[in-house]
Amino acid sequence: MKLGLITGTGLESFGAGQCQNQALETPYGRVTVEYMQAGEQEVYLLPRHGREHDIPPHMINYRANIMALKLLGCEMVVATNAVGSLRQSMGPTQYVLPDQFLDFTRVRPLTFFEGEDGKVRHVDVTEPYCGAMRATIAQVLEERKLQAHPAATYLCTEGPRFETPAEIRMFRTWGADVVGMTGLPEVVLAREAGLCYASLCVVTNYAAGMTGGPIEDGEVGAVMRSVGEVTTGVLEELVQRLRPGVCACRGVL
Ligand code: HPA
Repeated sequence: MKLGLITGTGLESFGAGQCQNQALETPYGRVTVEYMQAGEQEVYLLPRHGREHDIPPHMINYRANIMALKLLGCEMVVATNAVGSLRQSMGPTQYVLPDQFLDFTRVRPLTFFEGEDGKVRHVDVTEPYCGAMRATIAQVLEERKLQAHPAATYLCTEGPRFETPAEIRMFRTWGADVVGMTGLPEVVLAREAGLCYASLCVVTNYAAGMTGGPIEDGEVGAVMRSVGEVTTGVLEELVQRLRPGVCACRGVL
């Protein structure tokens, strides 16, 4: 089984030293993926912001990343995402597994389907995150006695700025639980490519306006690093445990 692992802020060094770089040309640009064998599992690692954390959320080549994992033969993708929380009950360092999203991105190429082959396609995202993968991830988090929220609505902004408190109030009334800058269009592209995809979010802060002070730049990375070892342990276990299950992700088109 081949598994893609897209790591976000604070986890750029996951697998460092155990991987071989593999460069790949895709129709959307060149991607360098890192390859690691873990038992029977073949893992392709993609630090979303680059190993040096120098690619901001709106500049990430989401299409090239997902296409690279598809071309390499991955069937499943686990992504990690740092998020701000809109709920008092979801505090910093806690894990969240989104089951729905709200897309507030603006300028990112959002699909593989641009009509070049004369076809107009609309992908179904009734269940955007793989239910079978989410169940396994939730089980691993529970076994490790980590504070986790097994369902949530993830709202993606364009970034790279944080939100205004007014935006957060509006997002909350619209049903958002957590806010981030990198979950879209990644999840949609994975679905278009027929890949099972799940996101393991880590809450790094309460959203703008919830604490009375500003969100410090650096807070996100600092909290992610503080749970880096625990999160790495979860990912290592997921690499062993995740196997294609009963789900509809591959046959949606
Ligand atoms: N807003 C948007 N993205 C984020 C946040 C936030 O508060 N925290 C971590 N990523």
